[in-house]
Amino acid sequence: MTHPEEPFVFPRTGHAVRNRTVLAAMTNKQSHSNGVLSDDEINWLLKRADGGFGIITTAATHVTEEGQGWVGEMGVWGDHHIDRLRELTSGVRERGALSLAQIFHGGMRAPEDITGKQPLSASVNECKESHSGKSREATGDEIDHLIEAFGDAAARCAIAGFDGVELHGAHGYLICQFLGEKTNRRNDKWGGDCKSRTNFLLEIIRNVKSKTPENFIVGVRLSPEYQQIGVRIQDTITQAKKIVEEGIDFLHISCWDCFTPSSEFPEDPRMITEWFSQEFGQAVPLISTGAIWSRQDTIDVLSQGATLIGIGRAAIGYADWAANISNPNYSPPRPPFSVMHLREQGLSDTFVDYMRNWKEFVE
Ligand SMILES: Cc1cc2nc3c(=O)[nH]c(=O)nc-3n(C[C@H](O)[C@H](O)[C@H](O)COP(=O)(O)O)c2cc1C
Repeated sequence: MTHPEEPFVFPRTGHAVRNRTVLAAMTNKQSHSNGVLSDDEINWLLKRADGGFGIITTAATHVTEEGQGWVGEMGVWGDHHIDRLRELTSGVRERGALSLAQIFHGGMRAPEDITGKQPLSASVNECKESHSGKSREATGDEIDHLIEAFGDAAARCAIAGFDGVELHGAHGYLICQFLGEKTNRRNDKWGGDCKSRTNFLLEIIRNVKSKTPENFIVGVRLSPEYQQIGVRIQDTITQAKKIVEEGIDFLHISCWDCFTPSSEFPEDPRMITEWFSQEFGQAVPLISTGAIWSRQDTIDVLSQGATLIGIGRAAIGYADWAANISNPNYSPPRPPFSVMHLREQGLSDTFVDYMRNWKEFVE
């Protein structure tokens, strides 16, 4: 049985993680309007590195200016971002953790109100982020440009000192829109069957690897299921096989709740993590995230076959959550949290306000 306090070494790159805990990517709206990191955003992440997490993942960060999904989102689309990113990565390293930047493009979920441009996607899709109510279909040239932009952003992250990147293919953003059968109805090489819909992501992986050092970690986060986009668990496994064959350093599945079965196959007793761990075995390190609050939860998810466990809301509530994980009875109180408590955990007023959107999180 694997315990959460056990270290782990990424087989290809040799990067050592001090334990099995990963701070999952969490948008916090604290960056400046030009995408540069603020002191508040650096502080919140460094406090989690102080708090014992093995890997610190940044919030989703856009690879082109037009890919921005929210106000206050950190960017990696320009060289002006690098200096503050370097402050973050050196701080994380000094505190003994690894750092990953979660790179993404909002696609049809990049609001025209922010970017001034009609959102683009794999196909023409209905979206409230567009003034016309529809995204436009990306041209072949635009797709080539986007693939290069992911690679350039990853290269910037490497220069800024990150240990690697997580390609955000989950939650309905651009990569996910290419993977899903509802949002990708193209007939060219970027669309078609479930395997062809993986081509955009595969090219991004190739481009990122070609522009970053050999020992740079390249992982992918996927939603196993996402109905609005047409992402289904069996397709996701097929698509994940393709990217694992391509060579990635981890597969991160965003389960939201690691303790419920597939919504498509509720009769199947397996938890979603088990679908993936049974399929991939040792072929790729697996990160699984969703509703983990206690040490027992971490043990359960590691027993389901995860290699590393992602922590979201518990890490907002408790900066030192990971430092407590060897305590057999660790199960800290759950939300709602008082504003004072959240401030003590290193959240700025901006972040606390954002957390009011999450049901019953802030008192
Ligand atoms: C405030 C907040 C912001 C989030 N932002 C992101 C994000 O930028 N990228 C991402 O992949 N997931 C994001 N997520 C999802 C988390 O990474 C995680 O998968 C989810 O919260 C479930 O884990 P938990 O139950 O431990 O919170 C966000 C979640 C929260 C609560």
